[in-house]
Amino acid sequence: MKLENLFKKVKIMNSALQDEILKLKEEKNAIILAHNYQPKEVQEIADFLGDSLELCIKASEIEDKDLVIFCGVDFMAETAFILNPDKKIVIPTLEAECPMAHMLPEDVLLKAKEEHPDAGVILYVNSIAEAKQHADTLCTSANAVKVTESLPHKKILFGPDKNLGTHVADKLKDKEIIHVPSDGHCYVHRLIHVEDIELKRKEYPNAEIICHPECKLEVQKACDVVMSTGGMLRHIAESDKEEFVIGTEIDMITRINSEVPGKKLYPLLEGAICNTMKLHTLEKIRDSLINEEPRVTLPSEVADKSRKAVEHMLEVSK
Ligand code: 13P
Ligand code: SF4
Repeated sequence: MKLENLFKKVKIMNSALQDEILKLKEEKNAIILAHNYQPKEVQEIADFLGDSLELCIKASEIEDKDLVIFCGVDFMAETAFILNPDKKIVIPTLEAECPMAHMLPEDVLLKAKEEHPDAGVILYVNSIAEAKQHADTLCTSANAVKVTESLPHKKILFGPDKNLGTHVADKLKDKEIIHVPSDGHCYVHRLIHVEDIELKRKEYPNAEIICHPECKLEVQKACDVVMSTGGMLRHIAESDKEEFVIGTEIDMITRINSEVPGKKLYPLLEGAICNTMKLHTLEKIRDSLINEEPRVTLPSEVADKSRKAVEHMLEVSK
């Protein structure tokens, strides 16, 4: 079969599956929440797309739906559960884990807290719930600076993302940021180097270069703007500029392209792909709607203790 015909066939199959999903969604009174890094075909069937903070806020407002299908990684679905312990929160595949979130096990955080009893504890929302329950508050890439300012402590235990912690330390010189663990990171954003920026500046001299705060600080400094994925979308929609180089996961470009027409967007690194975000195929989403599985749940004690930190973050972000 010619390649062009194969693509046509895949597209028709996708749209039939998408129709089936939309029908099932109505029948089940379900809502599909999806992160900005989901592939195009998933973005197309989502009721709500957003960054981690926007998804958290949306999850706190779901009252009229019985079933939540969460197309993102594990910690995002867990946060939706923490905010809605009485609802059915389903993730199309449990394999969709964020490796960074697992870089800070509970015992490592407890040991750091023992060593620094005077420190406030801020965890990136990209963390496991067992660690979240010991945090004073949480943050996302959209509100990390604001949340850190909100704590009275001079000394802050911050984890698991060292680059986001360094971003905060660079903005708030009066705070002492202690990274826990010492080298937590996102493997996708770590692939981006200063040389990539130099190359794109030569290739697209008129483009503004934007990156995510999960990139190394030297990369952040070499870019023009640093922001969360939701921030990127708003910034580009409001900008008079036409060309942008996007330094984050490649499907962020899919999201911006579909909502902000007339802009020229180029990836800072074509290989910046979050593999686990791509595990939610249309087939798995359809099956998860039919079976209402796999469910995301947490022990009630862990969920209750973590809820305080999530709610503090949401309060500060208003
Ligand atoms: P955002 O909250 O900016 O979407 O980031 C989430 C994430 O996991 C980035 O890698
Ligand atoms: Fe985790 Fe990085 Fe994927 Fe974001 S892009 S979900 S931080 S692995």
